[in-house]
Amino acid sequence: MSLTPRFPHFLHGGDYNPDQWLDHPDILERDVLLMEKAHVNAVSVGIFAWATLEPEEGQYNFTWLDEVNSRLKKHGVHMILATPSGARPAWMAEKYPEVLRVNDRFERAHFGGRHNHCPSSPVYRAKVQKIDRALAERYAGDENVILWHISNEFSGDCRCPLCQERFRTWLKDRYGTLDNLNRAWYTGFWSMGYTAWSQIEPPSPRGQMANLSLLLDWRRFSTWQCADFIAMERDTVKAVNPDLPVTANLMESFWDYDYFRLCEELDVVSWDCYPTWTGGDDADLAAYIGMNHDLMRSFRRQPFLLMESTPSLVNWKAVNKLKKPGMHLLSSLQAVAHGSNSVLYFQWRKGRGNAEMFHGAVVSHDGRDDTRVFGDVTEVGKALETLGDGLYASPVQQARVCILYDWSARWATEYSQVGLNGKMDYHGTALAHYRALWKMGIPVDFCDMRESTDLSSYSLVICPQLYLFMNGIEEKLRTFVANGGTLVMTCFSGISDATNLAFLADTPYRLTDVLGVRETELDALSPEECNHAAFTDGEVWRATGLCARPALEGAEVLAIYTDDFYAGLPAVTRNRFGKGEAWYLAARFDDDALLSLYARLSGSLKLPRALETDLPHGVTAHRRGKYVFVENYSGKTVTLSLPGTYEDALKGTDAGDTLTLAPCTVSVLLED
Ligand code: GLA
Ligand code: ZN
Repeated sequence: MSLTPRFPHFLHGGDYNPDQWLDHPDILERDVLLMEKAHVNAVSVGIFAWATLEPEEGQYNFTWLDEVNSRLKKHGVHMILATPSGARPAWMAEKYPEVLRVNDRFERAHFGGRHNHCPSSPVYRAKVQKIDRALAERYAGDENVILWHISNEFSGDCRCPLCQERFRTWLKDRYGTLDNLNRAWYTGFWSMGYTAWSQIEPPSPRGQMANLSLLLDWRRFSTWQCADFIAMERDTVKAVNPDLPVTANLMESFWDYDYFRLCEELDVVSWDCYPTWTGGDDADLAAYIGMNHDLMRSFRRQPFLLMESTPSLVNWKAVNKLKKPGMHLLSSLQAVAHGSNSVLYFQWRKGRGNAEMFHGAVVSHDGRDDTRVFGDVTEVGKALETLGDGLYASPVQQARVCILYDWSARWATEYSQVGLNGKMDYHGTALAHYRALWKMGIPVDFCDMRESTDLSSYSLVICPQLYLFMNGIEEKLRTFVANGGTLVMTCFSGISDATNLAFLADTPYRLTDVLGVRETELDALSPEECNHAAFTDGEVWRATGLCARPALEGAEVLAIYTDDFYAGLPAVTRNRFGKGEAWYLAARFDDDALLSLYARLSGSLKLPRALETDLPHGVTAHRRGKYVFVENYSGKTVTLSLPGTYEDALKGTDAGDTLTLAPCTVSVLLED
């Protein structure tokens, strides 16, 4: 499926900031020659160019952008055109301070930085709409422009009086009456009750931080604010040309907004990916990044774009490491293996000054094209051309496994004062389950708890610490199992409702008959403590962090706890329900345990793998149509036997029976 119908091919390129180089026409001329040489075919332009586009209020200057676009066009480079709302000119901040954000201590920002606008400000919205419309009128009809890039990395929230008022209105729409809100937020606690809407303030370390339902709703409101802002920009540019698709660049494991909800506003999902690869054993990191890619693919159930990645290093981490030889191709094709239809970088050319002057770029301050980085980038460009339209048209392998991952559950879990405060680790728990499947090359989708969620196409649904239940998810899970599905649910699931009020019922809510077990108490273990689960065949799993004490309600006990006052209690259970079965894991088990669990389930459920062969440690595989990506993150040379006849799609040679992969390498196999 094409994300960019005007140019339905893999995109290779990245952020290009010609507005920083207008006093160097020679460099602008050279840029396009170098782009061609690096097999670059798309660049994102204008992301932070507002001050150049509108140097004085109402005085637009598009001449430079016209010239940039026609130069790019001549060299076969397409333009992803940004709206400039991620940073604003000084004149605007000076004249209209309301465009600036108010932080959680209720202090208004001064001019500077970026990503710091108020999303409610009518002045800001009007200014954004005006420049967006002007950009659209000038460029949206141009065939060289293939995608809108709305703003940049939306994040955070504002607590100005305007945003506070919008929050109250949002709450009124949601709850109708103050009585309803007081009940839903359990405000009898600590005299929190509100007697007028005007008393409700956003969470703040100077004010209310103990009302967990307020914290949760504030995150949902922030998501809505951001979605509403994106929709405003999207509708403005689409009013001129409804056919030019819209994206916004997202971030990894992002906390502030519910990305499933946000992506409803976008045509195309894209994200910015900046792992610190070491070139040694990067298996865990690769699984973590793989999960991020699969989340991006899952938000809209379609391919996505890798909008930013570094061609070499970043400059904002504590330790900024270069990519070792091979890593650039491997990490770029990792994204493609998971469903990305692009490899794009931050940035094309290194700036001369300021905060990002030492951030990696395709072209460095020396302007040379004989560098290691330029060579690595060119190699990726060529690889994407070689893999070409056959791969481009191939969707990722259909997943039969789904992990339920939901931002409301995540926020509520992390806000709750329970168990391992600060380390309840919703994301990490989901990742642990994902990692086991990643190691076997089993494709995984993610779903959240929106009403639209449909689990019927899956064989296996995993609920890691699904603390909060909403929108009737318990009914969907019940039906899923009754119809033959296999459910894996862990401890600390089904405890609270949509506003984080505890269910007054057995745990997990309305699923104890499906699981045949009920959770009675949750215990936390210190880092030096552990417990164990022993199976009848002698297998032992190690449990750390969280251990629940369950009571049986008819399930088959597969393993019992061996230690402490838990000894003899069920630790792993399975229950047949309808045509399916439901597994319950009473504790947080380590990686070997989860690997054993999913190896067993993948056998019994005949889950498809990208490559039907044993993968050595640090090696994974992903499939798009007839293309199989075998990726080596082990830091060592590995050999594996191939279960069929393949061509090495990058080299154009027969792949043989065994595949040997050097450290930091990837092989793309084309099935016969
Ligand atoms: C983010 C931003 C870019 C740039 C890079 C640097 O992803 O979107 O503008 O600052 O980080 O890594
Ligand atoms: Zn505001």
